[in-house]
Amino acid sequence: MKIGFIGTGVITEAIVRGLIAHRDSEEQIILSERSRDISARLAALSPRVRIESNNQRIVDQSDLVFLAVLPHLASDIIGPLNFREGQTVASLIASVPHEQLRSWTGGGVEIVRAIPLPAVAEGRGTTVLFPDNQYLAGLFGVVPRGVV
Ligand SMILES: NC(=O)c1ccc[n+]([C@@H]2O[C@H](COP(=O)([O-])OP(=O)(O)OC[C@H]3O[C@@H](n4cnc5c(N)ncnc54)[C@H](OP(=O)(O)O)[C@@H]3O)[C@@H](O)[C@H]2O)c1
Repeated sequence: MKIGFIGTGVITEAIVRGLIAHRDSEEQIILSERSRDISARLAALSPRVRIESNNQRIVDQSDLVFLAVLPHLASDIIGPLNFREGQTVASLIASVPHEQLRSWTGGGVEIVRAIPLPAVAEGRGTTVLFPDNQYLAGLFGVVPRGVV
């Protein structure tokens, strides 16, 4: 499984630290180069993490794409990207509804909205997912699962 992140800020750092520290798996992680200090220190944590400078190349190489940019920038950053059938897109972006996400991704993409908290870095906390997604629930160790 290849997991890409568009946006490498506070919440991406927490998720990636949690994945590296608490999940013993073969997942490959592809990070946006943006926030170079964060992406560089995460890449130094594990050979499973690498950096990509181009957002479309992150999407092209990923099975699961996390959208982790600020809400007011999301349309300009996500709107131009091309997603492909069979991908899963997990949006962490507050206040952007499913219909808006669908207009950006097109059909054939599974869209999940997720609200992780920074405690995921320590393998703690409750992450809300909607709709439910088995893989993401496992990734976050979600207990319990809820709706938004
Ligand atoms: N923080 C939380 O606890 C939390 C929890 C749940 C959900 N969320 C949601 O997650 C999203 C991100 O929050 P955050 O706290 O992680 O924000 P953040 O720390 O400000 O991170 C935003 C990231 O987006 C990057 N970015 C800006 N323009 C970009 C571009 N054109 N291409 C690629 N990346 C770009 C920024 O890079 P630069 O620094 O280089 O500009 C930065 O790495 C928000 O929508 C928020 O609502 C946050």
